[in-house]
Amino acid sequence: MFDIKTSSHASKREHYADLVTQARSILAGEPSLIANAANFSALVFHSLAQLNWAGFYLFDGTELVVGPFQGKPACIRIALGRGVCGTAARSRQTQLVRDVNAHPNHIFCDSASQSEIVVPLVKADGSLLGVWDVDSPVTDRFDEDDRAGMEALCAVFMAALMP
Ligand code: SME
Repeated sequence: MFDIKTSSHASKREHYADLVTQARSILAGEPSLIANAANFSALVFHSLAQLNWAGFYLFDGTELVVGPFQGKPACIRIALGRGVCGTAARSRQTQLVRDVNAHPNHIFCDSASQSEIVVPLVKADGSLLGVWDVDSPVTDRFDEDDRAGMEALCAVFMAALMP
């Protein structure tokens, strides 16, 4: 089993830089989408504080279907354009929701979730792989450093899938 480094970091940016290094090492040489998605979810969920869900929704050609994740059982299928995940998938833009209760399009899978960040995953050929979704039980948990950090982590994840 991989050890997850839990050393303290001077800043959030430093923590994400360290996580990017760990993700690169855990995913190195393994092209399996499911294996990498499972390990990536576990790495992030167990490394960052104040999270209650971290995982993937994968595009099946029609809609998003829940993939490997850490947290409680979640909604299984989400149409493009629905919820924060469907919005990220359709717009192909990261969605940073500081308060899900104030978001008109949020889908409640777990009533504990108060804030959320969703990063779209787009392949090199421009097609949609899915989205990376992270929820927190704390309002305003995610900021611009989290956006940059999650996008950097997702770039490592996507690069590992390339042949
Ligand atoms: N809240 C998401 C649904 C997925 S769960 O958070 C795991 C959304 O609005 O799309």
